[in-house]
Amino acid sequence: MLKGSKVGLRARHEDDIPILEAELHDDVVTTSRALGRPWRPITPGSKDSQFAVDDKEQRDIAFSVVELDGGTLAGVASLWGVDDHNRSAHVGLGLRPSARGKGYGSDVVAVLCHYGFVVRGLRRLQVETLSDNAAMLRSAERNGFVREGVLRSSVWVMGEFLDQVLLGLLVQDWQPARKS
Ligand SMILES: CC(C)(COP(=O)(O)OP(=O)(O)OC[C@H]1O[C@@H](n2cnc3c(N)ncnc32)[C@H](O)[C@@H]1OP(=O)(O)O)[C@@H](O)C(=O)NCCC(=O)NCCS
Repeated sequence: MLKGSKVGLRARHEDDIPILEAELHDDVVTTSRALGRPWRPITPGSKDSQFAVDDKEQRDIAFSVVELDGGTLAGVASLWGVDDHNRSAHVGLGLRPSARGKGYGSDVVAVLCHYGFVVRGLRRLQVETLSDNAAMLRSAERNGFVREGVLRSSVWVMGEFLDQVLLGLLVQDWQPARKS
């Protein structure tokens, strides 16, 4: 397990999936805002669940997030679109409603940076998030990500086109102990 100060990132367990489906996927608004594609219902146990993991997939690395104190499932995190030629990847995360607002998001981003830069030897990490997602923007910026641009009207979310903010962090600008 990869450890931050409050949360750990471990492999996805089979019994995480029904909890993630109920608390994350079945929240149509939050899923539509995070996924970038239309929400649809998923049959319990389906291999098409966004939370089902294919361990042979090399470009998308999925983690479950757990509280270090007690091991309770807190959400999901991923390093996706891993590009070993350009040595870059994207950061993604989503927390259970009860786990939000406790500083876990910032901690998850810190652990994903460690995984990307130290374990995988990448040089650039990237975040795309809706321009009104203050918690995600702050979680990234706390870890040194800088805003590189706005992708205007780039995603269709629940009846309207919304802007995304693109943030990037280069390994030479990364400060692992950064806390503010
Ligand atoms: C986005 C998300 C991962 C952030 O994680 P979190 O644990 O809730 O965030 P944190 O508690 O670490 O807070 C990070 C910062 O954002 C601030 N923040 C949190 N919610 C906020 C809000 N609604 N408005 C403004 N600032 C907010 C916190 O105060 C904190 O700032 P600080 O470090 O200066 O104190 C989490 O809220 C979540 O899973 N949301 C739903 C799914 C989602 O949006 N995923 C991202 C898709 S790109």
